[in-house]
Amino acid sequence: MTGDLVGLLPQSNLAGILVIGQGAREHAILWGISKDAPRVPVYAAPGNAGIEDLAVCVPVSTAVDIARWAENKGRLLVIVGPEDPLAQGVADMLRRQGHVVVGPSRQAARLESSKAFAKEFMNRHHIPTASWRLFHSPEKLRDFVMSGTKWPLVLKQSRLAQGKGVVVAQNRDEALEVVADWNGVDHLYDDGVIAEECLVGREVSVHVLTNGEEYVWLPLAQDYKRLNARPNSPNTGGMGAYAPVNWLKVQERKEIDDEILRPVIRAINEERMLYRGILYVGLMMTGKGPQVLEFNVRFGDPETEVIIPIMDIPWTAWWWALGQGYLLETALPDPRGAAVAVVMASEGYPRVPVKGQIVEIDPSPGGLIFHAATHREKDRLIAAGGRVLAVVGLGSELEIARKQSYRQIQAISFPQSQYRNDIARDRRDSE
Ligand code: AMP
Ligand code: GLY
Repeated sequence: MTGDLVGLLPQSNLAGILVIGQGAREHAILWGISKDAPRVPVYAAPGNAGIEDLAVCVPVSTAVDIARWAENKGRLLVIVGPEDPLAQGVADMLRRQGHVVVGPSRQAARLESSKAFAKEFMNRHHIPTASWRLFHSPEKLRDFVMSGTKWPLVLKQSRLAQGKGVVVAQNRDEALEVVADWNGVDHLYDDGVIAEECLVGREVSVHVLTNGEEYVWLPLAQDYKRLNARPNSPNTGGMGAYAPVNWLKVQERKEIDDEILRPVIRAINEERMLYRGILYVGLMMTGKGPQVLEFNVRFGDPETEVIIPIMDIPWTAWWWALGQGYLLETALPDPRGAAVAVVMASEGYPRVPVKGQIVEIDPSPGGLIFHAATHREKDRLIAAGGRVLAVVGLGSELEIARKQSYRQIQAISFPQSQYRNDIARDRRDSE
């Protein structure tokens, strides 16, 4: 029924669809939209070489440039992928121009762009999260580390850091190393550095679509944040993911709903934040119940690459409604099958990725390959960043999807790439 809405889009005074961003997440969002075959132009800003197949790529990426480009385009449906433009207020700017925008206001985006703001918000509304302290000078943080007795200790940059501003320090020496490393970082202490209790448990990524009053659950996903499985491996933007997560008990899902999601959405509503979009809550399932690690005001990457392909819904219609403040249904259907995404990254990622490698893809039937950082030079596909491809296997169950993803990787030529070979292997879904 809701699918019929997509056919109505051209009549509803819609001049086009714009997806903001340039990664595999945005490629997956566009793939979801393309299945609906909307009869309006589709744009991506700035997009990448894979996205070019699904949208007209426009070379703009800051909030101001995007708003300038969108000014005379008629009424657009805009879906904002990454956090940076949201933190710059792109959703407010585009809404003021009359566009229909999926993405929270700048004020609401602070739930992600300032971890200190998010922690205060959680404390104010009694939402379970690790205990924390904020420091505005390296000297004070150093004193705290010297006097600390509880290890590990989590150190977090309060401002946006592309998923790389968090270190779990196992002992005092490691924590001091982080303090020294971060000492030279420009203006870091203006926003501050958080020292936080280390939570123990299993992580899960919870995504909901919300209009700031109601929400619907998307399938649960699990992300692999570390570069590899070694204990001190660095945090990355995410090296792989799978969905759905089958190891959570019904009771645990209920706790997430009762203790986290409902109170969070109620608090967003009470604080009058304009929120139309995706809320992604990073949770740790601890012995004391679920606790919030972080809020993200957008889809996770690579979680999107496994969530969108298994949701058989008319994405365009959902985005169109959500941009106007509505959810089409009170719940989403169950996912269809399972998906596993393995990220292929350039050598040197996350520290200093070596760019410019030639990538050759031999497309195999059934799976999906979302581009994370690619561009085309003549007819060649070139790796243009750290995370380059998200290789997605699909199947009726996770094991089939996992095997398909790794089979696809074998058919990709990308010298010196790095990828994890344990994505979705330790998932305990049979328990
Ligand atoms: P964040 O950006 O806050 O989600 O942190 C990135 C990653 O660091 C999380 O996905 C966790 O793996 C880890 N992390 C963050 N906060 C904590 C915490 N309080 N206890 C344990 N691990 C944490
Ligand atoms: N996968 C983690 C993130 O998108 O922040």
